Amino acid sequence: MSTSLPLTDRLNRPIGVLRLSLTARCNLACPYCCPDVEEPPGLLTLEQQMRVIRVATRLGAQTLRLTGGEPLLSRRLLPLLEAVAQARRDRSDPMAGLQAVALTSNGVLLSEPMARALRAAGLDRITISLDAAEGGAAARMAGLQGGAVAGERLVRQVQDGIAAACAAGFDPSRGGLKLNAVIQRGINDDQLLPLAALARQQGMELRLIEYMDVGNRNQWTLDQVLPAAQMVERIHARWPLEPLGRPRGGTARRWRYGDGAGSIGVIASISEPFCGDCNRLRVTADGQAFTCLFSAEGTDLKPALASELQLEQAMRQLWQRRQDRYSEERDPAAAASTHAEMAYLGG
Ligand code: GTP
Ligand code: 5AD
Ligand code: SF4
Repeated sequence: MSTSLPLTDRLNRPIGVLRLSLTARCNLACPYCCPDVEEPPGLLTLEQQMRVIRVATRLGAQTLRLTGGEPLLSRRLLPLLEAVAQARRDRSDPMAGLQAVALTSNGVLLSEPMARALRAAGLDRITISLDAAEGGAAARMAGLQGGAVAGERLVRQVQDGIAAACAAGFDPSRGGLKLNAVIQRGINDDQLLPLAALARQQGMELRLIEYMDVGNRNQWTLDQVLPAAQMVERIHARWPLEPLGRPRGGTARRWRYGDGAGSIGVIASISEPFCGDCNRLRVTADGQAFTCLFSAEGTDLKPALASELQLEQAMRQLWQRRQDRYSEERDPAAAASTHAEMAYLGG
């Protein structure tokens, strides 16, 4: 088996992160994401998932991020984490090179026992999504019927999830627990300060995400994007910020609060694209590999999954051919072009 590293794509970008989706389904219905109601047929088995992870780490991935849909809906999550943890302990396994195993979740199902089980199964970091601190906006952003009351319930559930994660040992001050919020101008941009206050209270990094034109169902328009610079300005006016920059291969440009209360990040895919050092390979729950979040179609890994050698060849070829940089080329006139859906792709 070939071990010639580093593998890079046509733009000289290495693989750094494998984003493996466990399910296309979600227990929320955020209109900006519009998840599938049904699972695609032919979900990967645990053995197949492990094979994908092993090969990705052999090709250079140092972070595994488990995504969805909502990954806590998947019964495969804990067994997969346990198998990965075991492989990481085996020095002869390429998975020993994994520096972090992370999860992106909406936090609704993050009960105390679940948080403890995730920690015990070797999960290092959790990023929880919450787009508002107040009920009305939370309900709108999550697609909940039932207005402010339903939204307040959601905020409470997610706050309980955050507390459960902290209690289980996911330490926000060490990056073990972060908060993601998608901001849509005119829909939840009044939540910037309430969300920042909520995250500051917990010592969690809040990452403000520009609303992206991903998928075909959300009717994205540019006027709904609040540029990251404006988000930063509004927070800075209340709690002064100092720039920390964007780490190589990272999605977020980070800022530190001058008063020592932690940090925020902005993920500015529209106003400041970061394709130049994009190191993310995505694999869907049914084994389609996507190199770019905005691709129309994936590459089916299933035919190659029977052998590790074949899979390595397929994934290596896919990455070597890669030259996508959609966000940098984004052309508003081409808004009709098709993209795979976010919840299927895993973000
Ligand atoms: P960290 O390891 O904590 O930095 O995680 P992350 O930011 O890479 O992952 P997360 O799942 O928290 O994603 C945050 C936001 O960034 C989501 O809206 C993702 O869809 C978006 N995102 C992640 N990767 C990319 C990417 O390669 N391109 C673009 N445009 N957006 C991305
Ligand atoms: N634009 C920006 N972020 C999005 N997410 C889902 N859809 C979009 C979109 N259209 C976010 C989720 C979650 C992360 C995985 O991606 O809210 O935080
Ligand atoms: Fe990577 Fe595509 Fe996102 Fe650019 S748009 S950062 S290439 S996933």
